[in-house]
Amino acid sequence: MTDKTEALRHDPILSGRHFNETESRIAVASHPIHAMMVAFPIAAAFGTLGCDVFYWMSGDEFWARAALWATGSGFIFGVLAGIAGTIELLSVPGIRIRASSWTHFILAMTLLSVMGGNWGLRLDDPAAAILPYGILLSTLCMLMTGLTGWHGGKLVFDYQIGTQRGISKD
Ligand code: HEM
Repeated sequence: MTDKTEALRHDPILSGRHFNETESRIAVASHPIHAMMVAFPIAAAFGTLGCDVFYWMSGDEFWARAALWATGSGFIFGVLAGIAGTIELLSVPGIRIRASSWTHFILAMTLLSVMGGNWGLRLDDPAAAILPYGILLSTLCMLMTGLTGWHGGKLVFDYQIGTQRGISKD
């Protein structure tokens, strides 16, 4: 028996009957909707921090309004992407069995809470909210977006989650 076959016999995930099914169910022609949508909150999180920095440097209220829209749209698209990801997580056996999927979920929910807070803080007066709390929240959002996105990539590139091929047993 090869080392790989031996490992498969003892790996509860790889040897499980349905747990090697990782194919996306919330998809268009096998392309996961979640993976297509996450580009928007990622870009918005980085864009919000950029707008905050430009406001700090220039004092131009245009950037404060742009940051309000960026963080609001990032939050809404993040929630929509999160809904697609959560349905995927709960409905695909090979996704929900992986501890890493739940780590990504917890990171993403924390990120969305901070992003929502960053939006809410600015609703009354977008310019007054930026220094210091808005820009600090934007920095936290950017760091958390990097961490959440990196972890999402780990699911796809390390475990082939959401892909058609799944993890082969041979
Ligand atoms: C809120 C709950 C979330 C859940 C349950 C979730 C779940 C998943 C799952 C199952 C995948 C694997 C691909 C697929 O099957 O679609 C994935 C990939 C990914 N997720 Fe999430 N996700 C969530 C939120 C987010 C958010 C808010 C972001 C934005 C930062 C994000 C960023 C990513 C990225 C970048 C990938 C890799 C996509 C690729 O490279 O193709 N996820 N996520």
